[in-house]
Amino acid sequence: MTLWSGRVEGELAPEVWAFLKAEDAELLPYDCAGTLLHAQRLHAAGLLDDDELAQATQKLAAITADDLDPADEDVHSAIERLLGPLGRKIHAGRSRNDQVATAHRLYVQDACDEASAAIRAFGAVLLALAEAEADTPMPAYTHLQRALPITLGHHLLAWVEMLERDVARFAFVRSQAEPSPLGAGAVAGSTLPLPAPPNAMRNTVDAVADRDFVLDYLYACATLFVHLSRVSEELCLWATSEFGFARLPESAATGSSMMPQKLNPDVAELTRGKTGTAIGRLTGLLATVKGLPLAYNSDLAEDKQATFRSRRDVKLALGALATLVGGLELDRGRLAAAASDPLLLATDAAEALVREGVPFRDAHEQVAASVRAGTFEPPEPSPRIGDVAAAVRAAKERWGC
Ligand code: ARG
Repeated sequence: MTLWSGRVEGELAPEVWAFLKAEDAELLPYDCAGTLLHAQRLHAAGLLDDDELAQATQKLAAITADDLDPADEDVHSAIERLLGPLGRKIHAGRSRNDQVATAHRLYVQDACDEASAAIRAFGAVLLALAEAEADTPMPAYTHLQRALPITLGHHLLAWVEMLERDVARFAFVRSQAEPSPLGAGAVAGSTLPLPAPPNAMRNTVDAVADRDFVLDYLYACATLFVHLSRVSEELCLWATSEFGFARLPESAATGSSMMPQKLNPDVAELTRGKTGTAIGRLTGLLATVKGLPLAYNSDLAEDKQATFRSRRDVKLALGALATLVGGLELDRGRLAAAASDPLLLATDAAEALVREGVPFRDAHEQVAASVRAGTFEPPEPSPRIGDVAAAVRAAKERWGC
């Protein structure tokens, strides 16, 4: 029996049912939470008595995924069914349109908190490594060519900076997901005297049409993945025989089914691969929403798989990368050899001439000529990137670790 069986006679064709049936089980606890908020509004309006509210509270807390039935159209109808006679009262003054938006907003808030916690855990691994390798020399690269000498700690702090912006982005997305669509009903509220939730959205049409909070979340996930992908690409490079900066830990590397010598950076590669998918989820939903007239349209049902899968990928990728990076065996000799390439000090040589009053462009030309002629003499290295150990300490303080 559907929620709308009073209107449509007869059964849906099985192939139509199979197509329409929502894959939204992950939303269940959030829809229970949203339903409880709505029950409290009904109670405040005198439309549920104390006993009914107590019953609803207790029943909603006990509902689990095991209670779902293949005959449920979606979690919303499942909850109504599971509440029994109370379920027949509880939909007064709401619609699945404000219901699903409410539940999805609660879901995204949790997903943001989970992403932040997973980023923080990975950040703690990076900061521990940055602390240990604050003074380990390595070359910095531009255009993937050796550029200037830095330390591994300094490079790792660049990864930390990206992640710190991600944490801030997820906090922003969370705040965007907090306003409540409850009370918007299908699109234009209700005639019942229900109190508005304290954080109610201002406009009922917007409340049920808006999916910016999902787009924001998918954007935050895509950007996080782009960062993780760049980190992954570097890990792949560092683990090659050509770079040889690090060996992958066996707890986070895979072998080949054919070539006995291989140790493959699957975790990093898969992270890079999932980045394409994360970007696709964002562009997919942007395309879905783009042509929709306000307010709710069933096209919007496509938004949830994107969040469910993103949430899972974010957590899994960060967990696996933390293990990979935490177990890296660095080859400090190879790093130092790469960093002691004398040509890394060509800019220092030009700047030494500038200190003697030579215009920079002339200094650049002089040094370039000596490099071309093979007569370049590196100067004594001078400090150029500041106190990395102090920068690590400051980052640890910001990250609370
Ligand atoms: N399963 C729907 C969704 O995911 C729930 C809302 C359905 N509303 C409706 N009027 N059909 O968006």
